[in-house]
Amino acid sequence: MKEKIEALLAEIESLACKSEGEIEEARVRLLGKKGEITKLFEEFRTVAPEMKREFGQKLNQLKTAAVSKIEAMRNSVQDNTSSASAFDLTKPGDPFLLGSRHPVSIVREEIVEIFRKFGYDVAEGPEIEDDWHVFEALNFPPEHPARDMQDTFFISSSANSILLRTHTSSVQVRAMEKLPLPIRIVCPGRVFRNEAISARAHCIFHQVEGLYIDENVTFADLKQAILLFVREMFGADASIRLRPSYFPFTEPSAEVDVSCNICHGKGCNICKGTGWLEIMGCGMVDPNVLEASGIDSKKYSGFAFGMGIERIAMLKWQVKDLRNYFENDLRFLREFETSL
Ligand code: PHE
Repeated sequence: MKEKIEALLAEIESLACKSEGEIEEARVRLLGKKGEITKLFEEFRTVAPEMKREFGQKLNQLKTAAVSKIEAMRNSVQDNTSSASAFDLTKPGDPFLLGSRHPVSIVREEIVEIFRKFGYDVAEGPEIEDDWHVFEALNFPPEHPARDMQDTFFISSSANSILLRTHTSSVQVRAMEKLPLPIRIVCPGRVFRNEAISARAHCIFHQVEGLYIDENVTFADLKQAILLFVREMFGADASIRLRPSYFPFTEPSAEVDVSCNICHGKGCNICKGTGWLEIMGCGMVDPNVLEASGIDSKKYSGFAFGMGIERIAMLKWQVKDLRNYFENDLRFLREFETSL
């Protein structure tokens, strides 16, 4: 009987049932009406009285071991089934946190899309440029004071300096050098100027510049293109006015104002009481610029224009501090979620 008890203890120890069914089977085999342990208790009646104490203890130990082992196995099988519920496929999924587009991207695409409808292609070029494409080919002679208009970040200042482009007019030069005529392109991109950062100026900003070169392109075509753009961007009742200006690469040159879309010309703090908002520079491409890129200026003429994307975004949403566009403060960016 002693050996039988020991053998059963070892067996109980090593039991490893994996399901409720197996556990129940083991319980019946050990503790059921005809189970091994139950049988031992029956045998116990025949044990000699002087041995009863020793065997009684052993038998009770064996029964407790069997009961607690079965209990423990039941708990662990239940745990497994409850952790399986973590994979409940009927549960609603965790939603992805979606980002939203940056306001500068939203406006860039809006501008580009308008010009695409007018038949303009998109051209892009490098942000790290050489002096030729940013200045020289655009009629900024060396030492010309106009170079100071665009405080430049130089990377190397040898004879042909390497620098961060100060405008995307450099992309227009690259286009004139290699594209067949006529050319009709818009050039969106990031530009860099060595300026102190404030609410109204930043050393990084974005532009969309445009260029159209063909035979018989006139200033009237330029005005018409800009008016059509402005009406698409700011509404059918928007109007423009042109003020004479100066750029080395265009002659004549002008600044374009659009009628204030907030007060509709009455005067407010956004347009500083004037009813007009400055939005871009433009002009007829200087013949020197055409010739520098190998285009016959007697046969071809063209116009160019350029605007700051942040400036247009500022007017669209009345964001007064330019720095908001670069700090990536989520509270600011989330304001544009619905503009996707
Ligand atoms: N390149 C000018 C600037 O960055 C903008 C411009 C483009 C003006 C084309 C006239 C014609 O300020």
